[in-house]
Amino acid sequence: MALRSLSAVTPALRVCNSRAFSSIPRGAQQAARRTTTLTAKPFARSSARFYATEPGTGKSGSGGATWLLLGVAVAAIGGGYYVYSSPQDAETLAKSGKQAAKAAVGKTPKLEDYQQVYNKVAQLLDEAGDYDDGSYGPVLVRLAWHASGTYDKETNTGGSNYATMRFNPEALHGANNGLAIARGVLEPLKKEFSWISYGDLWTLAGVAAIQEAGGPKVPWRAGRIDGFEKDVTPDGRLPDAAQGGDHLRNIFYRMGFNDQEIVALAGAHALGRCHVDRSGFEGPWTFSPTSFTNEFYNLLLNEKWQWRKWNGPKQLEDKKTKSLMMLPTDYALIQDKSFKKTVQAYAADESLFFKDFSAAFARLLELGVPTSQWVTSTPWELKTLSEQTEKK
Ligand code: HEM
Repeated sequence: MALRSLSAVTPALRVCNSRAFSSIPRGAQQAARRTTTLTAKPFARSSARFYATEPGTGKSGSGGATWLLLGVAVAAIGGGYYVYSSPQDAETLAKSGKQAAKAAVGKTPKLEDYQQVYNKVAQLLDEAGDYDDGSYGPVLVRLAWHASGTYDKETNTGGSNYATMRFNPEALHGANNGLAIARGVLEPLKKEFSWISYGDLWTLAGVAAIQEAGGPKVPWRAGRIDGFEKDVTPDGRLPDAAQGGDHLRNIFYRMGFNDQEIVALAGAHALGRCHVDRSGFEGPWTFSPTSFTNEFYNLLLNEKWQWRKWNGPKQLEDKKTKSLMMLPTDYALIQDKSFKKTVQAYAADESLFFKDFSAAFARLLELGVPTSQWVTSTPWELKTLSEQTEKK
């Protein structure tokens, strides 16, 4: 994948370069992982580079592969599109994830096979070099969430089942800007483990990213199948960060979540950052954007937040260091009484947050997948890399 210098792109992008961040080795960041004090912890930052394979360039990150779905649907990748010779219902082609995998490689993959994929994802997280804060983890979590968060419980459409973000109509939805990077990072794994569906690969990568960042175990199981362009859902199903609490409720109630689950899921913003060239917003939520902690809630509650004066969308900055940000939707979580109660609970008790996040994220990743497709009735627990080395 080609890299190009950010500074050469637009004046708007240079704005984000002008904000000074101190730089420390990533190992030191990791050491600071579990710290919950509000002392400003410096973190490495290099947003001076990004991938040129954005959806809008006509190249999604999924170029080159051809694969077979039950010998009927041939998917040719080119310009981000898959062209099928016979665009039938994915469900009529493959009744289950097990059947699809068996047709692809003549075997039924087991937990050990998925653990191998997990391990490969875990290894590549840190191969990010100077991409963002040195990890692909956050953008992989965002991919897993956006692939699943299109679900509508009324019409039972959307969700992680058909991995429809491979298709340009969905890849080009504004909310998905930048996710070509995450899809591109995972594409070599799809080639190596051709039996895994894209939906399984993307969601499993999200689980690996959470667990490897020090987050909770997220129960996960296989069974998603690859669908067609016609399964793409309309634009506008993912949340708009410029809005408030009512909007959050509309979006997440539509997926079947309640207020407590909305707050738990939003805690994923402990990870990663906003990018001017993707969402228009800029900056990280926490001082340790590659570690999964309850810091998002602590900072939201305890820092003084003010509207940032800048030539960009309305966002908040912390008064003290001006290096952290909150989106209007994040801020809505402390403006609403019901949400705020849960924010306080998670700020006070990280293990409660971990438990609730794990349950809500696991459910999010399963949205839209018919029960009959799962390869196992009880979800699995994938082992972290360090758990596996400890055992040796
Ligand atoms: C509550 C409604 C939500 C809104 C409005 C929202 C909005 C956003 C926005 C605007 C970005 C910045 C994208 C960019 O510029 O790169 C972002 C990043 C991110 N979001 Fe959310 N999000 C929401 C919920 C969630 C949920 C439920 C999760 C996961 C469970 C999540 C995980 C992430 C992660 C990990 C990033 C960082 C990505 C990176 O560093 O590349 N978000 N979100």
